[in-house]
Amino acid sequence: MQHTFWQDILAKQGMILGLSPMDGVSDYPFRAISKKYGRMDVVFTEFANVEGICRSGHAAILNHFDFDAAQRPLIAQIFGKTPEYFRQVAVLLCELGVDGIDINMGCPAPTVASHGSGAALIKTPQLAQQIIKAVQTGVREWANGMTLADCPDLGPHLQVALDAKRIRFQLPIADRSKLPTVSVKTRMGFHEESAATWLPYLVDMQPAVITLHGRTLKQSYTGQANWEVIGRSATLVKQLNPQIIFLGNGDVMDYEMAQAKVREYGVDGVLIGRASFGKPYVFLPEQERLTFLQTQNIFAIALEHATLYEQTYGGGDKYHFLPMRKHLAWYARGVPQAATIRSALVRSNSATDVAQILKAHQLI
Ligand SMILES: Cc1cc2nc3c(=O)[nH]c(=O)nc-3n(C[C@H](O)[C@H](O)[C@H](O)COP(=O)(O)O)c2cc1C
Repeated sequence: MQHTFWQDILAKQGMILGLSPMDGVSDYPFRAISKKYGRMDVVFTEFANVEGICRSGHAAILNHFDFDAAQRPLIAQIFGKTPEYFRQVAVLLCELGVDGIDINMGCPAPTVASHGSGAALIKTPQLAQQIIKAVQTGVREWANGMTLADCPDLGPHLQVALDAKRIRFQLPIADRSKLPTVSVKTRMGFHEESAATWLPYLVDMQPAVITLHGRTLKQSYTGQANWEVIGRSATLVKQLNPQIIFLGNGDVMDYEMAQAKVREYGVDGVLIGRASFGKPYVFLPEQERLTFLQTQNIFAIALEHATLYEQTYGGGDKYHFLPMRKHLAWYARGVPQAATIRSALVRSNSATDVAQILKAHQLI
């Protein structure tokens, strides 16, 4: 297995702390703000569907992978069930220059899992293995000179979009000697916990990283993440292949809790998801977090986020700005008059609206 930036981070810091992939949440502006203020080691994109990328005539789906140098190392997450499409999308992501490609084998949403993708792959471990192999093959083929033109299901519109992104985000031509890592994020079982039988199928394929969310598909997001199972799984994976980086995930609230999980359960690091909503500072160690809270105005950051959102996706009407509103509501949690402020913010249609509301409440 190749030496990776994951091992470098681990050697330097003793743990890896990352922003978890979240569909509809961890888009380009959210990742930019999270990374700027939270300085986590690694960020994951929202997932994108390989069948959608290969079959759709629209390149907009690639917007999920927008990033610039400040977001590195950037892990692009993909999902689907067709190994050949995974292979070709791996070539595309290599060409884009991402640092890692993560395969989603954990999404419980019926729109994903009922089609055999996401967490449904736990029930079809041979297909899961073929998918990992397909991504690894795509990466290797790209290293050997393959381009998008060699991929029969990637239309020329995707090359056009990719070139435009390179210019917009000032991304250099990707270096074929620096290959993205291939990793998997999964859950501990389908109906029942089955990590000890499921994980060896993944380990066999030698992914660089496995992230385990301590819930089953059936649990979706209910109950508590089972860190005992995550701990046992860390031991198992390390016994089978000590080179694989093993991350735990589920219900971690801040840096110190991540540190405690690493100590108690033997994981190499942790991904934090929901605790970061409106709180980019949860990734900072306590002292820095306190300084942050004393010196930074979270509403100024909310406005910066809204402005970046508008610059990225447009604003000025409900249609474009709607997905930003939930972030605004999260920023407003826990402050005096939260309900009043929130109800105004969730009706905003632009960064200008947000600025007016925040000024009217003397928050900026
Ligand atoms: C809104 C939302 C969207 C999510 N989308 C994804 C996704 O695209 N890919 C993925 O692997 N996990 C996704 N997840 C799962 C999270 O990455 C994470 O595994 C889960 O929320 C548990 O971690 P947490 O307790 O720190 O939030 C999503 C979770 C939420 C709440």
